[in-house]
Amino acid sequence: MVGGVGLLTGFPDGFEVGVSTAAYQIEGAIAEDGRGPSVWDTFSHTPGRIKNGDTGDVACDHYHRWPEDVALMADLGVDAYRFSIAWPRVQPTGSGALNRPGLDFYDRLVDALLERGIAALPTLFHWDLPQALEDQGGWLSRSTAERFAEYAGHVADRLGDRVHRWITLNEPVVHMADGYAFGGGAPGQALMFGALPVAHHQLLGHGLAVRALRERGATQVMITNNCSPVQPASDDEADVAAATLYDNFHNRLFNDPILLGAYPEFLESLLGDVIRDGDLAIISTPVDALGINYYNPMRIAASDSDLPFEQRPIEGVPTTAFGWPVVPDGLRDLLVGLRETYGSALPPIYITENGCSTDDGIGDSFRVDYLGGHLGALRQAIEAGVDVRGYYIWSLMDNFEWAEGYHQRFGLVHVDFETLERTPRDSYRWLQTALQERKS
Ligand code: FCB
Repeated sequence: MVGGVGLLTGFPDGFEVGVSTAAYQIEGAIAEDGRGPSVWDTFSHTPGRIKNGDTGDVACDHYHRWPEDVALMADLGVDAYRFSIAWPRVQPTGSGALNRPGLDFYDRLVDALLERGIAALPTLFHWDLPQALEDQGGWLSRSTAERFAEYAGHVADRLGDRVHRWITLNEPVVHMADGYAFGGGAPGQALMFGALPVAHHQLLGHGLAVRALRERGATQVMITNNCSPVQPASDDEADVAAATLYDNFHNRLFNDPILLGAYPEFLESLLGDVIRDGDLAIISTPVDALGINYYNPMRIAASDSDLPFEQRPIEGVPTTAFGWPVVPDGLRDLLVGLRETYGSALPPIYITENGCSTDDGIGDSFRVDYLGGHLGALRQAIEAGVDVRGYYIWSLMDNFEWAEGYHQRFGLVHVDFETLERTPRDSYRWLQTALQERKS
């Protein structure tokens, strides 16, 4: 196989290439060393919620096999690793006493990464809320924002001597939509527009956490938003209006308050007194960078169902095993569009997730093409003047893909979920070649 020769030429000096994972998707060991239950434990153990009845009980068993996984990353040659910290492992009930063995786990992981010259980029919340907090209202409750900032501070107290860069939340829009609006993810509530307070409380938790982390010496704090460029399904006025509405709920609801200190007007009225005086000042505490997860654009039409918009397929492009359309140019358009919308308020950007699921085994030429195409689009965005500092592939290895269980495989490394054996795919070798070439 021809390696990824030339893949990384033309990117600025210091441009970071990394891989991403998340705690519940890889760690397993859900009841070990004092970890408390999370909403994802409860959800995955509820019959009918996850394909094949899969759970994250064992996942990739990363909690025990992490030295092997760090070695895989070191051999791959990545600059950085984005992982998430499981709140219920560190603070089993989401408030009060800390669980020292849980913190020790991340402490060892960080040391091992740094020893191998891999930068650590932890995400503090990737959807695995302690169940005890969910029982008190979860993100529908304002107090969860305060608990989150306290937890962030505790983690930084322990790791902050070595970790200076943090991501507060992963994809608050997806957590709100899947977890609380439609119910396809934990905690499985289907409140439709009643889920909106979850947006505000996550954003508030983010802002409070930015402050807690900075007080502890953090030099780079960001949030990771899932962003999609949105196109109307036709020129029809109703479709154009529906696409604008969708863009507001998916993108602007989470970018505007952080970058501009204000919600789009109609969303502010929908939120009503969920917003208290001073909240927007907290939420817009300056971030040092913006994390963006990009998978695909959205094509939206008007609808007269329960929701005023609906998704339409994007025709004429390949689709991943998941059925997601492959549109690399969408990444360039998204980034150029963000710069147009936010101008000088847009901080440097890191692509904190991009990748695809495939079912073509170890010879994953589909993934090689996917990643190559997206890196090309990213280079174009940089050439167009967008300040992008890094690109993290989802994912280092196959893992528990939420409601899809182990069915969707996103890894550069194949995982046999019977034996837990890890086998690098062609895409891993391809990226390895490109990273070696860049260093030489
Ligand atoms: C993102 C999630 C990540 C993973 C990818 C495929 O929305 O952040 O955990 O599941 O999708």
